[in-house]
Amino acid sequence: MALFASLTLLVILISIFFLYYKKKYSYWSNKGVKGPTPWPVVGNFGNIILQKESLDMCIRRIYSKFRAEKLVGIYAGYKPTLLVKDPELVKCVLIKDFDVFNERGFSSSKSRLSINLFSADGEKWRIMRQKLTPVFTTKKLREMIPTIQNCVKDFLLYVENLVDKNIDYEIRALAGKYTLEVIGSCAFGLDLHTFTEEENEFSKMAKKIFNPSTKLKILNLIDLIFPGIRRNFVSSTERQEFFVNLVREIQKEREGKPLKHKDFMDLMIELKEQGKASRKLEDGIAEIEIDDYMIAAQALVFYSAGFETSAATMSFLIHEMALNLDIQDRVYKEICEVVDKHNGDINYDAIKNMKYLEMVMNETSRKHSIATVFLRRSTSTYTFPGTNVTIPKGTSIMIPASGLHKDPKYFPNPDKFDPERFAPGKLISSIPQCAFLPFGEGPRICIGMRFAKVQTLLGTAAFLKKFKVEPSSKTKSELILDPKAVVVSAKNGIWVKISKR
Ligand code: HEM
Ligand SMILES: *[C@@H]1O[C@H](CO)[C@@H](O)[C@H](O)[C@H]1NC(C)=O
Ligand SMILES: *[C@@H]1O[C@H](CO)[C@@H](O)[C@H](O)[C@H]1NC(C)=O
Repeated sequence: MALFASLTLLVILISIFFLYYKKKYSYWSNKGVKGPTPWPVVGNFGNIILQKESLDMCIRRIYSKFRAEKLVGIYAGYKPTLLVKDPELVKCVLIKDFDVFNERGFSSSKSRLSINLFSADGEKWRIMRQKLTPVFTTKKLREMIPTIQNCVKDFLLYVENLVDKNIDYEIRALAGKYTLEVIGSCAFGLDLHTFTEEENEFSKMAKKIFNPSTKLKILNLIDLIFPGIRRNFVSSTERQEFFVNLVREIQKEREGKPLKHKDFMDLMIELKEQGKASRKLEDGIAEIEIDDYMIAAQALVFYSAGFETSAATMSFLIHEMALNLDIQDRVYKEICEVVDKHNGDINYDAIKNMKYLEMVMNETSRKHSIATVFLRRSTSTYTFPGTNVTIPKGTSIMIPASGLHKDPKYFPNPDKFDPERFAPGKLISSIPQCAFLPFGEGPRICIGMRFAKVQTLLGTAAFLKKFKVEPSSKTKSELILDPKAVVVSAKNGIWVKISKR
């Protein structure tokens, strides 16, 4: 009898489970949106949870499976999420109807460092964006050039000493040293000596942020299925203390000292003196408090959004140069010509004139997308123009940038490295707006875009002028991406042979 009762109970439970699962997972088909078949509990993210695929790989696979669709409905666990594939509709999300899609929808964590430009939404984001934009004007960038040039000089010296040893080099680590030095000195006024010391506090912290502990990884995975329990990858008190102390130390050091030009820290110190930043709204005002924590939060995000991304771009570019020697020759010739015209100096105006190098950089960010999937959340009901698909407020949206970048419709033969795709005129005539999104688009476009470009172009131009890169026995023509990495990276590093010109 007892056995019969428990069997009945089991059957009832299983039926309820299946009904619930069927109802949850018919969300998109009810709206007439196609998509891959989900699994119970994990939805379409099974491979991510098993760490067989990164989010990038998973979304690209779904993207190519549903080539003809403009919108694809997927399930992050049970959460319905809409993949917006069509460039016209991407444009609506990122630019035209930004007011509906201004939120990223990261569930905020308890940590005060999670209140930063990248994660903030709504009015808080608007105020921060407005206050931080002046850090990245053309004038500020020009003023930073001598600082960056110093980092370039150290970088070249460092590589020169290495090259004499005549071995293979892992270029990601090399590029990482350079970008860390640049961000440290431009944003914080720190001389990090990345080229002399093997390891310093700053680079140790970088490793911790990008090699999250197993506990954090598991938390992030759970967050995919049950949104809202993300603790954010910056929440550990150790990291928090490190950045808050850094900010306090720099402020103390600068007290009362006149400065030649203002870097990020100076701007933030000025803001802090105002105490609060606010914005007038129709129904009152929105305010954020500016204290050491707020400054540290921005510092941390500039560092975590800027460091690995720039290092990755530079290393993928150099990798492609080793594989495509004819393209490298053309880049080299252009660099020499332009530098001659600028009296041997590689400065802001010089890199603006290196048009071919810019094409090469664009093609690098297309073939090796670094920011792969952008997240948004709707703040009201929305109907996508030209479709019958209406989504309610609070729907999660994904923009598959890396999928678009590998779509043969916009980039024929997408696995080929071909800078000619970006030849003058081509970008306008054959690549639709919002099909190429290395830095995003619209009001939430990467705030560090121009800084990143200048830093990468200055470093790369100087490097390629002085050195030649070639494939070595360890060079892989097809890089295998690491499914477990937070920022896109090659599984066994990126290896090349470097020699002096
Ligand atoms: C090659 C290097 C870089 C790449 C590929 C890159 C890419 C991106 C992309 C695609 C976005 C927009 C994401 C979205 O729309 O959801 C973004 C946002 C952002 N990036 Fe970058 N980035 C780079 C370098 C930097 C640097 C150097 C900094 C800081 C100094 C930086 C700071 C930020 C911040 C703060 C945001 C958030 C902006 C906002 O939400 O208002 N990035 N980045
Ligand atoms: C939207 O629905 C209407 C009426 O059912 C139909 O005539 C129209 O073709 C649909 N449009 C699209 C893009 O599916
Ligand atoms: C490179 O891409 C950017 C978009 O991020 C575009 O504005 C620029 O014109 C492109 N440059 C070249 C040389 O194609």
